[in-house]
Amino acid sequence: MACTRLTGRGPRAESEQTVTARAHRGRGLATALKAHALAWAQGEGFTHASTGGTVLNLPMLRVNTRLGYVPEALWVTWERRL
Ligand SMILES: CC(C)(COP(=O)(O)OP(=O)(O)OC[C@H]1O[C@@H](n2cnc3c(N)ncnc32)[C@H](O)[C@@H]1OP(=O)(O)O)[C@@H](O)C(=O)NCCC(=O)NCCS
Repeated sequence: MACTRLTGRGPRAESEQTVTARAHRGRGLATALKAHALAWAQGEGFTHASTGGTVLNLPMLRVNTRLGYVPEALWVTWERRL
């Protein structure tokens, strides 16, 4: 129903590819799964966690904010039609 992937990079556990099957979204699955993955990583000795994604992905932003992630300094690219 949901999955996420953790990759170790030195002391940092980087998570990516968090997905919940469409029919099961909005029930807290991604939040619970990512929280479980982070607890596991902490138990394994990782001291930091990182993740990435577009600022337009509001559900993922909700999940990450709830789990305590804060954004790093951002470089935002803009475009306009000429
Ligand atoms: C992002 C994703 C994994 C979230 O999974 P989920 O199991 O539905 O997540 P949760 O239920 O734990 O939390 C979702 C939160 O987003 C909120 N949300 C859902 N749709 C939203 C929307 N359109 N706008 C704003 N918030 C939204 C939910 O209300 C919930 O927040 P809340 O608990 O504070 O109310 C899921 O939407 C998904 O699989 N998306 C496609 C894959 C993807 O984009 N993955 C991330 C890239 S790595």
